[in-house]
Amino acid sequence: MAVSQAVQDSQVTVQDQRENAEIGVADILSSYKGEKGELIAILQDVQGKFGYLPEQAMQQVAKFVHVPESTVFGIATFYTQFKLCPVGRNIIKVCRGTACYVRGGSRILDKVERELGIKAGETTPDMQYSLETIACFGSCALAPVVVINDKVYGKVTAPRIEKLLKENTTD
Ligand code: FES
Repeated sequence: MAVSQAVQDSQVTVQDQRENAEIGVADILSSYKGEKGELIAILQDVQGKFGYLPEQAMQQVAKFVHVPESTVFGIATFYTQFKLCPVGRNIIKVCRGTACYVRGGSRILDKVERELGIKAGETTPDMQYSLETIACFGSCALAPVVVINDKVYGKVTAPRIEKLLKENTTD
């Protein structure tokens, strides 16, 4: 009995979240005309609101601008600015470019992965951290480079990682 009640409660919660997301997207769409050329701007607004592009939101957007869902999904996956999964409150990016690699970038990535307990491309279960890798930040003179919440840290060493994460991230 308790289990079926819990299942019912969780269904209600999922339903509530879905309805809230629909309302949130409808709010965004109300300031657009529904033209195909608005697609990227709408997706940027949706991501600004939810932190990523929920599948259901992309379906609503596709309907609104009269394009197939595959078109919206194609754009969402083409542009790296768009996220298809929820991201953590803190985004850590480690450079995997050549200059960083030759100066110990892979050791830095290993260390960050161990500190956070996740691999590149993953988010911690508590949604506190997402870990990404980038091909080159364009700051090769500072190699190896790590970016924490859009702030660039150069000449990073593995022992310094723990301190950087502690001092530059939020709970
Ligand atoms: S290779 Fe890392 S910043 Fe260029």
